[in-house]
Amino acid sequence: MTDSTPKTIDTLLTETRQFAPSSEFSAQANINSQDIVDAAHTDWQDWWASWAAKLTWDKKWDRVLEWDSPFAKWFDGGKLNASVQCLDRHVEAGLGDRVAYFWEGEPGDTRELTYQDMLDGVCKTANGLRELGIEKGDRVTLYMPMVPELAMAVLACSRIGAIFSVVFAGFSATSLKDRIHDQQAKLVICADATWRRGSILDLKTVVNEAVEQCPSIENVLVYTRGGDCVSAASDINRDVAWADLIDKQSDVCAPESMDAEDVLFILYTSGTTGQPKGIVHTTGGYLTGAYTTTQLVFDLKPESDVYWCTADIGWITGHSYIVFGPMANGATQVMYEGAPNHPGLDRFWELVDKYQVSIFYTAPTAIRAFMKWGDKHPAAHDLSSLRLLGTVGEPINPEAWIWYSKHIGNEICPIVDTWWQTETGGIMITPLPGITHTVPGSATKAFPGIEAVIVDDDGNEIEGAGAGYLALTHPWPSMLRGIWGDNERYKDTYWSRFPGKYFAGDGVKRDEDGNLWVLGRVDDVMNVSGHRLSTMEIESSLVAHPSVAEAAVIGMSHDLKGQAPVGFVILLGDQQPSDELAQELRAFVATEIGALARPEAIYFTPELPKTRSGKIMRRLLRDVAEGKEIGDLTTLADSSVLEALTAEYNQRNA
Ligand code: PRX
Repeated sequence: MTDSTPKTIDTLLTETRQFAPSSEFSAQANINSQDIVDAAHTDWQDWWASWAAKLTWDKKWDRVLEWDSPFAKWFDGGKLNASVQCLDRHVEAGLGDRVAYFWEGEPGDTRELTYQDMLDGVCKTANGLRELGIEKGDRVTLYMPMVPELAMAVLACSRIGAIFSVVFAGFSATSLKDRIHDQQAKLVICADATWRRGSILDLKTVVNEAVEQCPSIENVLVYTRGGDCVSAASDINRDVAWADLIDKQSDVCAPESMDAEDVLFILYTSGTTGQPKGIVHTTGGYLTGAYTTTQLVFDLKPESDVYWCTADIGWITGHSYIVFGPMANGATQVMYEGAPNHPGLDRFWELVDKYQVSIFYTAPTAIRAFMKWGDKHPAAHDLSSLRLLGTVGEPINPEAWIWYSKHIGNEICPIVDTWWQTETGGIMITPLPGITHTVPGSATKAFPGIEAVIVDDDGNEIEGAGAGYLALTHPWPSMLRGIWGDNERYKDTYWSRFPGKYFAGDGVKRDEDGNLWVLGRVDDVMNVSGHRLSTMEIESSLVAHPSVAEAAVIGMSHDLKGQAPVGFVILLGDQQPSDELAQELRAFVATEIGALARPEAIYFTPELPKTRSGKIMRRLLRDVAEGKEIGDLTTLADSSVLEALTAEYNQRNA
């Protein structure tokens, strides 16, 4: 960094809309007074310990926190088992008949699994894993679609103390191989196939290709979802059919009593550059975080709510808010296998109505797709069962927030915009729906027991309104404990930029009311004539235009300005691209948030390049806009999107 570098990020967008929780919602909310926030602030360790105490422990911890920065041990000396929190304790409390999952396959096949069914299935699976020689501490890689057996496999590993690592079943054979190799897994659990937009998607061929290059793998346990439709080869010495191994097992399996700091799972996150990092989470702290945040952020009432998180278990959102958080609370959930637009663009709303979903948690990328598809799809269904909405994964543009509130939440559901990361394990910045005045586009304040600060380039904390880098000042129970096999990278990536603080890699601003606005990855911040602008604010301005459904903005190299903003825009269903509209959008941004932010060019596109978890890959758009060779594509979900954009660029600049 040179001295001329501005010290913070400039902010342009202002938002005056605020929504107080209704008195009706507050009256019934799990948190309806500031007291809990104050208590957590007074003594955060004690506060977290009071939540940990609500779990079932075989032995209580000796010490709440041991902090040898940046290495944390939470609840050390304590012993517990993750699957017991999620299953046994509910069954023992007489809740065995409560539905754990209403499962819906994409073709419309359904299953209903109670907590007793899940416990039986998990015990059988755990016994099957033991028969295959899997022991405490062994690594097991899971490559499965959204079927209940994925949740069972996760919990079965945790029951016997095996370290599980779920790889999203859309990753390529190379990505799967790299992850198996990094963790030296002994077993892969997979499905032969899944359904996606009406077709069978063969997963077993991908697994075969990956495993051929992984000598550590002794067996592949295959759950049958596609059946005869899948022709992938099977290796009789290596492959074991789920039905042959698991169905015959006993449904009783003594859980392994784990140390609080024993590793529960490894989950790979690619970040923006470099090799994927195997993020390590341990047992006691992670469960405490997932349990507490699920109950307080989603205002969960396990006896009456039907909760649906639309993420895949292959991402951290699915780990924390489909498996461990909701199940540790004894929630009833919906789990859906397939695409949101199959067979119709209203599939999600049909399911909300069918299962009377009351809490719905999804991603901004999905919300922007719903906006693009049109209001009539949610309008065709009765969504009156909904009482709370959530979002996660990216900044949500204020107009998308308003659309979500109006068309899905009937303007009565509070919206929790939750900021967190694979590394944080649980939600860190979020409204508390019974007390927080929400603001479209802002994740508002740090969760109780968490302290989020804004720092400038020199690591000085910015007080009051301002913008800079998001950092967390002290450890929290569900924090990552390291990167699998690479402590140095752990220290460098997260703890060296601002010594003593956790650096999240995101830009953030604080408004006059103290609300936090996450501005996206700092790698995406652009420097226009010496002003650092976040992509999020210009994108939000574009999305506020009545013709626009979704926008990505990047900083393109510019001779005079250093960088200049360029917008890639997806129009709403009924709108047509034209030069006039491009000019109108440029002028709109200049009027809305300032001439500095006026895009140099606007490209219209039917799609944007995204990661498999739906995040916009702005660095690839930068390559397109600068006419460069396109960089690393391994995390890109659909490469045809980029081909179309490059063709458009070449045509415009020929
Ligand atoms: O940039 C932030 C963005 O997603 C990143 C974390 O990604 P991942 O590890 O894949 O986990 C996603 C699910 C927790 C963050 O560094 N992000 C996540 N939630 C938000 C967000 N950006 C703004 N607002 C959010 N609510």
